[in-house]
Amino acid sequence: MRIGILGSGLMGAKLGTIFARAGHDVVFSYARSREKLERLARDAGGNARAGTPREAAQDADALLLAVHWSRVDDVLKEAGDVSGKVIVTCSLPMNADDTELVIAHTSSGAEALAAKVPAAQVVAAFQTIPSEVLFDVFERRGDATRPSMVVCGDHPNAKRIAATLIRDMGFDPIDAGPLRIARYAEPFALLIGQLAYEGNEGPELAYRFERYIEDRK
Ligand SMILES: NC(=O)c1ccc[n+]([C@@H]2O[C@H](COP(=O)([O-])OP(=O)(O)OC[C@H]3O[C@@H](n4cnc5c(N)ncnc54)[C@H](OP(=O)(O)O)[C@@H]3O)[C@@H](O)[C@H]2O)c1
Repeated sequence: MRIGILGSGLMGAKLGTIFARAGHDVVFSYARSREKLERLARDAGGNARAGTPREAAQDADALLLAVHWSRVDDVLKEAGDVSGKVIVTCSLPMNADDTELVIAHTSSGAEALAAKVPAAQVVAAFQTIPSEVLFDVFERRGDATRPSMVVCGDHPNAKRIAATLIRDMGFDPIDAGPLRIARYAEPFALLIGQLAYEGNEGPELAYRFERYIEDRK
């Protein structure tokens, strides 16, 4: 598939690199320097290249949205017309200092995004995974036991595309239902982050993928 990366930071750079190594055509876009995007494309290998958000969106089978919540409007403006596009969002609706969700309980960042781009097909995925574990999971994608990843969305085709990408990365996709389920997944992503970065021995469920890595060290 052709995958446009909108936001090439911790998440976008790693996910784009893995998508390229899994055989997809990747366009890295939206960083503060063109050199960084070119280096990412070089390091990723395969059919990866650097581009503008507009180039990333052009002919893309899927767009990965991986920017801070405060940059969403800007990157969408630069991407141009995304009608009919599948947008996989890992962006969480965080405040400026990343301490709180600015949308929660009665809606979610994923739903707010879908309202901004009603002609696109938005799915939420990769939100509950700290970027640090992504390469390890990809390297162990041949293992019999795979960590799970939830995906939610209202468009079956978009969910199918996201599930393919999730599988290619080494996770087992779990269809969590419609996009409104992101209301529960997004706060859960914060819990995962808390446990991953600040916790000691988190609950079994939330820490599952960390244990998965630990067990294999
Ligand atoms: N990090 C995680 O483990 C994780 C896990 C789950 C979900 N998320 C969510 O995923 C989203 C992305 O997180 P992240 O950690 O990947 O963020 P990040 O590392 O800050 O990446 C954001 C990207 O946006 C670019 N950017 C920022 N301001 C810009 C500007 N003015 N012009 C052009 N580009 C600009 C950054 O450029 P530079 O590359 O030049 O800095 C970077 O490539 C967030 O919504 C976050 O909540 C993150």
